[in-house]
Amino acid sequence: MTIDSQSHSVVYMDHAATTPVRPEVMDAMLPYFSEEFGNPSSLYGSAEVSRNAVEQARERVAEVLNCRPSEIVFTSGGTESDNAAIKGGASAREARHVITSAIEHAAVLHSCEQLEQAGWQSTYLPVNADGLIDLEALRRALSLPTGLVSAMYANNEIGAIQPIQAITEVVREAADAHGAGITFHTDAVQAAGTLSLDVAALGVDMLTLSAHKFHGPKGVGVLFIRRGIPFATQMAGGGQENDRRSGTENVPAIVGLATALELAELERESVSSQVQRLRDRLLEGIMERVSGAHANGTMDQRLPNNLNLWFEGIEAEPLLIGLDMAGIAASSQSACSSASLEPSHVLTAIGLSETEAMGSLRLTLGRDTTEEDISRVIDVLPQVVADLRSMASARTGA
Ligand SMILES: Cc1ncc(COP(=O)(O)O)c(C=O)c1O
Repeated sequence: MTIDSQSHSVVYMDHAATTPVRPEVMDAMLPYFSEEFGNPSSLYGSAEVSRNAVEQARERVAEVLNCRPSEIVFTSGGTESDNAAIKGGASAREARHVITSAIEHAAVLHSCEQLEQAGWQSTYLPVNADGLIDLEALRRALSLPTGLVSAMYANNEIGAIQPIQAITEVVREAADAHGAGITFHTDAVQAAGTLSLDVAALGVDMLTLSAHKFHGPKGVGVLFIRRGIPFATQMAGGGQENDRRSGTENVPAIVGLATALELAELERESVSSQVQRLRDRLLEGIMERVSGAHANGTMDQRLPNNLNLWFEGIEAEPLLIGLDMAGIAASSQSACSSASLEPSHVLTAIGLSETEAMGSLRLTLGRDTTEEDISRVIDVLPQVVADLRSMASARTGA
């Protein structure tokens, strides 16, 4: 997809950070800003339209997730859903031990850290070079009585896909052994659009989604909470969302989320194979033309739209600036940490050195990525890398 940014065209290769709202989604949202603006909690007739829109959106989301509408909670996005799942899920259990992985999004990691400050014990599971959780390490961690496990479905930096069903089984076995429930939450923010979100098949108790990653609006998300799973609300107030998340519902955004999710599900298989083919062409093109380029993480259990590479002798920051000047929008790590000068915790967890991690580039494709976009990146990237290398060698006199 080429976007017009301040009057020059830009190839957008950062779909893991966010995606543009689809026109169909905009159209579905528009009436709820000013025509049908009622508060869903009001009793008069005109508010019923908003109330029905929210309830229909809940049914539409439940259909995609293969769950009951009453198990869907609308939130302000992935960050809130993760916070609510971890703090609200853990505090409703007796065992004060939570388990997560070393490569989670900051919303999960920092929520676990907050629990630690409040007296919980946390275990951060290591991952292998492919970014996958070691199930034996999970079993060992579960020997301690545990209230909650949170493992992301797909990673936002390297696209590694965790074996969620296998993790569910291990968690269930441990719950049986301890004779106490353990809540299993997955952050599926990056999975939406390319992987199945069928919570019955996945077996998870809680699942997080964020609309802006699948061509919906920003600032709205979902937390699926399986019926019967204990949950302590983290947002006190008027008791909306069945007492699980107070606050007047963001009606247009909720309608937009449901529309975007339905469309994403409808196109999931075709978009997955399309982006995978383009991603593979991109990888091949880069490998052919850039010496000292290395792919980070496995190419097998990986999101079809994700590519993450490091380049010998290159730092990500000037690389991103060079790409930006040449009209390519990419990133080095997750959007919320890209301003950080620290190496990515995900890349170091899979075994990269600090220097390798600091030289890594993430390119993420979307349903709107074209052959021309790929050709442009394959043309531009080798030149940017070559220029940076020659500048570096001129500096060192090498
Ligand atoms: C894996 C993952 N979890 C959570 C989030 C946070 O979602 P939001 O931007 O809706 O707060 C993101 C966003 O980058 C993400 O990639």
